[in-house]
Amino acid sequence: MNQRFVIQGGVPLSGEIEVHGAKNAATKLMVASLLTKEACVIENVPRISDIELTRELCERIGSVVTFEGDHALRMETPEIKQSAVPELSRRNRIPILAIAPVLHRRGAVEVPVPGGCPIGHRPINLHIEALRLMGAKVLRREYSYYAESPNGLTGADMTFEFPSVGATETVLFAGVLARGRTVLRNAAIEPEILNLVGMLRDMGANIVCDEPGRVMTIEGVRELGGVSAVVIPDRNEIVSFATAALVTDGNVLVRGADPLHIGAFLQSVRAAGGIAEVLSEGIRFSGVRPYQALNVQTAPHPGFMTDWQQPFAVLLTQAKGQSSIHETIYEERLGYLRDLARMGASVETDVACVGDPCRFSGLGYVHACRVSGPTRLRGAAIAMSDLRAGMAHVIAALAADGESVVTGIEHVERGYEKIDERLRGLGADIQRVGA
Ligand code: EPU
Repeated sequence: MNQRFVIQGGVPLSGEIEVHGAKNAATKLMVASLLTKEACVIENVPRISDIELTRELCERIGSVVTFEGDHALRMETPEIKQSAVPELSRRNRIPILAIAPVLHRRGAVEVPVPGGCPIGHRPINLHIEALRLMGAKVLRREYSYYAESPNGLTGADMTFEFPSVGATETVLFAGVLARGRTVLRNAAIEPEILNLVGMLRDMGANIVCDEPGRVMTIEGVRELGGVSAVVIPDRNEIVSFATAALVTDGNVLVRGADPLHIGAFLQSVRAAGGIAEVLSEGIRFSGVRPYQALNVQTAPHPGFMTDWQQPFAVLLTQAKGQSSIHETIYEERLGYLRDLARMGASVETDVACVGDPCRFSGLGYVHACRVSGPTRLRGAAIAMSDLRAGMAHVIAALAADGESVVTGIEHVERGYEKIDERLRGLGADIQRVGA
């Protein structure tokens, strides 16, 4: 893992790039396949390390997984052979999502306690409370959660205090095969969740989704069957390529980008003065300076997504005046700004909310910042600490004067397939070096 990217910045990106399937949908569709004995085919699966981890997890508990061609995955789980879901990586949170499918098929499950992570504590209380409401007995052990429901799960009516993506997925997995009706209020309605709902429905699940009201109503069925599903385009890839185009004064067509999935981002790009042209084949982004300062607040979908603020911060360093970012989803997701500052950005972080108070108000977390610009960025040696921050570093390096050496590239490889090769296709001077 000594590979690094060496990037010579300052080259305007231009051309076309195809968006790949969404990591945060594909991994969930893979878990959904555990709900049936029949084969499922999942198309448009990105070839990234998080998919490999999820594949290994499924194989260890009994799935037979094969790639058919480059991006189609066939998964069949005739039997779940063990109730202990392996850990594989403390950073990967997929084992938690396997709780309900394994419970349905074995009546008991044990999953490792997920580790903390550089972006926040990431508790799983909402998952656990939902499963308990549905009749599972859940015990916290030293390094794991153990759950059992020998007589199956029962539908329940519940309201989340926060529309958690992962916990909504747990309720979907639990509700589709539970006895009776489950109603989830204040559910997450991210496009990746709707992708999962679509697959579950095709498998035979009965789910009614009131998106504006954030209510999911699930009537449990006795069994689900095999299906063929297609992963939606990755919103985070689109935003990353778009931002890279804007900060390098480039002009890039992101093929396959769906404007309906990134409405809040498109609005922000346009408010900052960037051009986003929606075409039948995708979205063309082009940079026109000067960019305008903007206040950005992250929020659950359909708001401005937490995974977009890191690349967007790079754009804000190029905007005229004082911008702000208010991160309201994760309590510690602004650490990467230290590296942007080393590259020449003018940033000031704050524990106080900017704008409306959020649920982190008064808790002392550094979750807001002000960015003043425009400032020229200069190349630097940077170590990635997580996936989205890592991509922001790559984007900043593409915009910077001179050379950057970026280490820790396994973080971006969790979520972006062949990122160096694909950026080179847009003219970027990025080389992978090391063994
Ligand atoms: N939360 C709780 N209790 C819970 C669950 C969540 O307090 O039981 C809190 C979390 O601590 C966090 C907030 O709720 O502060 C949001 O968490 P959520 O459950 O919505 O997110 P997630 O399912 O853990 C997914 C993506 C993230 C993405 C978020 C928000 C996957 C594998 N991960 O995480 O993606 O940022 O939704 O949209 O789908 C990434 O791809 O780099 C990434 C971090």
